[in-house]
Amino acid sequence: MIEILPVNTTYEPFSHEPEYVAANQGFATRVPLGHVKRILDLACGTGTISEILISLAPGAHLNGVDYDPVQIELSSDRFRKLGFDVRTGFALTDDVVDGKPALVFGCGSATDLPFPDETFDCITIANAIHVIDDKEKLLKTISRLLKPGGLFGFNSTFYSGSVPEGTDRMYMDWLILAAKYIEEKNKKLAAAGAPTIKRVRGTTRKAFTNRWYSPSEWSDMLDNVGLKTVDTNERLVELSERSFTYVGAYGGLAEVLMSGFPVEEAAEALQNAAGPAMRGCGATVAPRNYLEMWAVKS
Ligand SMILES: C[S@@+](CC[C@H](N)C(=O)[O-])C[C@H]1O[C@@H](n2cnc3c(N)ncnc32)[C@H](O)[C@@H]1O
Repeated sequence: MIEILPVNTTYEPFSHEPEYVAANQGFATRVPLGHVKRILDLACGTGTISEILISLAPGAHLNGVDYDPVQIELSSDRFRKLGFDVRTGFALTDDVVDGKPALVFGCGSATDLPFPDETFDCITIANAIHVIDDKEKLLKTISRLLKPGGLFGFNSTFYSGSVPEGTDRMYMDWLILAAKYIEEKNKKLAAAGAPTIKRVRGTTRKAFTNRWYSPSEWSDMLDNVGLKTVDTNERLVELSERSFTYVGAYGGLAEVLMSGFPVEEAAEALQNAAGPAMRGCGATVAPRNYLEMWAVKS
């Protein structure tokens, strides 16, 4: 029996799932990073990819940026527990404390960054580029902040190609069953004379407002800002029923997938619908493709 988690404003519950960690590890190890001295991890969330990057480039100073203060707290705590000196804000530091590079985590937008030009050897944005509205501004900012020869990498499971062939039905059933779950819950609430769950249009972002780009479209967009693609990979990740369930606990996704429903109810419904959607299609895993791209600043 998989535990149904309360809605979480962060990615925390899913970010520890072994498939997620392995997928990010696979992405980060596609290019050599051992020489890298200064890293910027955009939309760093709870620090999953930051930790992988630091393990691949020991001694590198990392700045993490996320616009959610809760996630900045969580990523900072994560590294403090690992014995790092962690500071808050946007300072660039060369300090080494107890043999480890000091790290800096700041709360802010990935498209509006206060760092000087040509500061970083490596910039990443993992599992988040698809939610950034102004992708041109983001990529221009990244190009400005990278040193010549510096690396930019991103991965995303929201691109044209992310739904493996033959699995559309499972993802569609997931949403249908989640809506049915709320319908059933409403019947019980109504029978008990309690207020029912209402969908209110226009209160949250519209679902899927951001276009999903293909690998070649991404490559063109990177090229336009002086970033030359050096590696493109599509990784098949097979989520266990538990991972698929826990994805539903992430408020950011629940809000988009079930736009208009109270996010707590959407997260509960998505989690309860994940297993039945999988089993209804005779599947034992939820397969998903992740696009991984690395580019070099020319
Ligand atoms: C799915 S999480 C990914 C977190 C982390 N990079 C990882 O791979 O585990 C997406 C993150 O993007 C952040 N985010 C979304 N839009 C952002 C923006 N415009 N600027 C900074 N962070 C943003 C969210 O707060 C969230 O932490």
